[in-house]
Amino acid sequence: MDYQLLQIVALLTVMAFGGAIRKATGACSSEDLEGLMGFKSGIQMDTSGRLAKWVGRSCCEWEGIVCDNATTRVTQIHLSGLTEKDLFQTEMVGQLSRSITLLTSLEILDLGGLVGLSGTIPQTIGMQMPKLQKLYLYGNHLAGPVPESIGDLPSLQELALHDNMITGSIPSSLGSLKNLKRLLLSSNQISGTIPLSLGNLTNLVELDVHDNAIMGHIPNSIGQMQALERLDLSSNMLSGSIPSSLANLTAISVLYMDTNNLEGTIPFPSRSGEMPSLGFLRLHNNHLNGNIPPSFGYLVSLERVSLSNNKLEGALPSSLGNLHSLSELYLSSNSFSGQIPKSIGQLSRLIMLNISQNSIEWPLPQEMSSLQNLQTLDLSFNPLNLSSIPQWLTSLSSLSRIYLAGCGIKGQIPDSLQTTESPVQELDLSSNLLSGSIPPWIGSLSQLYMLNLSRNSFDSQIPDSLTNLPDLGVLDLHSNKLTGSITRVFGTEQGTSSGRSLTYIDLSDNNFSSGVEAIGVGEQINIQYLNLSHNLLKGTLPSSLGRLNSMHSLDLSFNELASNLPVVLEKLTFLERLKLQSNHFSGSIPNGFLKLRKLKELDLSDNLLEGEIPEGKPLIDFPGSTYSGNKGLCGKPLVPCKL
Ligand SMILES: *[C@@H]1O[C@H](CO)[C@@H](O)[C@H](O)[C@H]1NC(C)=O
Ligand SMILES: *[C@@H]1O[C@H](CO)[C@@H](O)[C@H](O)[C@H]1NC(C)=O
Ligand SMILES: *[C@@H]1O[C@H](CO)[C@@H](O)[C@H](O)[C@H]1NC(C)=O
Ligand SMILES: *[C@@H]1O[C@H](CO)[C@@H](O)[C@H](O)[C@H]1NC(C)=O
Ligand SMILES: *[C@@H]1O[C@H](CO)[C@@H](O)[C@H](O)[C@H]1NC(C)=O
Ligand SMILES: *[C@@H]1O[C@H](CO)[C@@H](O)[C@H](O)[C@H]1NC(C)=O
Ligand SMILES: *[C@@H]1O[C@H](CO)[C@@H](O)[C@H](O)[C@H]1NC(C)=O
Ligand SMILES: *[C@@H]1O[C@H](CO)[C@@H](O)[C@H](O)[C@H]1NC(C)=O
Repeated sequence: MDYQLLQIVALLTVMAFGGAIRKATGACSSEDLEGLMGFKSGIQMDTSGRLAKWVGRSCCEWEGIVCDNATTRVTQIHLSGLTEKDLFQTEMVGQLSRSITLLTSLEILDLGGLVGLSGTIPQTIGMQMPKLQKLYLYGNHLAGPVPESIGDLPSLQELALHDNMITGSIPSSLGSLKNLKRLLLSSNQISGTIPLSLGNLTNLVELDVHDNAIMGHIPNSIGQMQALERLDLSSNMLSGSIPSSLANLTAISVLYMDTNNLEGTIPFPSRSGEMPSLGFLRLHNNHLNGNIPPSFGYLVSLERVSLSNNKLEGALPSSLGNLHSLSELYLSSNSFSGQIPKSIGQLSRLIMLNISQNSIEWPLPQEMSSLQNLQTLDLSFNPLNLSSIPQWLTSLSSLSRIYLAGCGIKGQIPDSLQTTESPVQELDLSSNLLSGSIPPWIGSLSQLYMLNLSRNSFDSQIPDSLTNLPDLGVLDLHSNKLTGSITRVFGTEQGTSSGRSLTYIDLSDNNFSSGVEAIGVGEQINIQYLNLSHNLLKGTLPSSLGRLNSMHSLDLSFNELASNLPVVLEKLTFLERLKLQSNHFSGSIPNGFLKLRKLKELDLSDNLLEGEIPEGKPLIDFPGSTYSGNKGLCGKPLVPCKL
């Protein structure tokens, strides 16, 4: 978001140039001219062509330069890259030269997003550019540390060094930048700890250091940054507990501390009125423990909260119902227990609720039927003992993604799912106790994109109607007792109603016995993952298999497939995994297999193959076990063939 904002600011600045640079005309000071020429000489290539026009002495008229009309000193340099695809791409390849520090009257240096600036930030920058207010060097290849001397830039308001290769630690001198409003250091290789002195930055509005390797504790002093609206410490290696002083951040609206090693409890808020603007809170992927404090309900501005993948426990507090603005709540992979509080029904703006992988118990409160904006509900893998799907669930007017895996649902798929208020797009009823047949009405769920019925006890055939689903992209029916033919899923030759949307098909571990001749015949040719292993499939692979040239992973192992290995497999050049073991394939390995250059996993063992393994990559790089248990294969990596 900030990155875009910077780019928009940069764009507006460029658009304003026409006027701005004409105010002051003529030559600039010779010191500034020397600084600019030094900078230019460090650049080997400028795809925007801006620097090519920097000639003569009238540097105040050059594109990208703004001078003070009285002193004729250069006060601003704007050369940002505007890397957004729909704008234009600027690359300025070369070293960031030290001579830039000769521009001692500079207030704004904007060299962000030029992609190719390398070298280090001049160590002396702070001593030579006392008027600098904005320093944008983001989105380049700058290495080395943040210079300590930056702390001596008394006027600095914005420091944007994100998306570089900066190393070292955050200098504690930055704590002296009394006027600093934005400090953006994300996506670098910064290590060390967060200096205590940063707490002195009482004008700081945004602190973003995400995606680095910062360690140690979050200093308590961070709670002194009274102006802070946006704090992003995510994706680092921070440890220890979350300081309770954060509750003092009265302006905070975005607080991201996810994906670290934080432990202890959630310490805020301690009372009503604290953090009144907090809208976005991410604490997921840490080791936090304890309960969600009942006081959490005081954070009435919360819109998105993610606490997933921690060690949080206990019952969900009923005060959650006070969070009237909440639209997304992620609580999965914790140890929450007890029942979902009735008050959850008050969250009328809730769009996404994910409580999967906890210890939540039956019954679900009837009040959930008021969640009329809920689009996605994931209650998977809780000891809910649902037995059947509650009737109110199918009457939720916005619900289209239903995830109820491992919830103890028994019997047949309830017919009520056929007539839900909102068309079902994703349905996951896997790992339940469902049995009987897959109902033909599944084919009338016209917007269905994902169907996961794996790990149940369905024992029917695949219904014909499945071919009617134009948007079906992901079909997972593995580990059931399904029988008959697999023809349906590949569409028909005539190309009737079904689309080319299927990319993922897992029919493994069933009792399918026929239909391999249909693979690749129909219009479903964008399949990337196909798993038919552990069935009773017989017959010969058709040459139409070669049409499936988006395939990344093909597993036909543990069936009764016979005949030669099909030569058309060489057309599947994206294949990374090919598993054909434990079938009755005979003959030799086609030379065309040498074209499968992306192959990382290959298993041809336990077939009836013979002859020489084609010599070359990638075939010779696999272990002997790839080829073992055949009739007579030889050559690398097995023993040489006898002449
Ligand atoms: C610079 O020019 C602008 C308008 O052209 C004027 O308003 C401003 O006072 C000038 N500044 C100085 C310091 O002369
Ligand atoms: C914060 O600033 C005060 C003076 O303004 C200074 O005495 C103190 O050392 C600074 N704190 C840190 C941790 O640098
Ligand atoms: C919050 O700020 C107040 C007043 O500035 C201070 O007394 C209190 O100790 C701070 N709380 C925390 C938890 O740091
Ligand atoms: C719910 O959260 C889990 C774990 O974070 C994730 O794997 C799953 O995809 C989420 N469910 C949905 C429907 O997004
Ligand atoms: C869940 O159901 C199983 C059998 O279906 C039963 O043995 C168990 O007691 C039930 N648990 C609860 C908490 O109701
Ligand atoms: C279907 O659900 C099972 C768990 O019940 C999971 O392992 C599998 O990855 C899911 N399939 C897809 C395609 O997401
Ligand atoms: C295919 O399915 C089987 C059984 O469900 C599983 O063991 C195997 O790992 C799957 N193969 C691939 C390539 O994912
Ligand atoms: C599935 O195949 C196995 C092995 O042939 C057989 O024992 C079993 O009875 C079959 N199950 C069904 C439901 O057809």
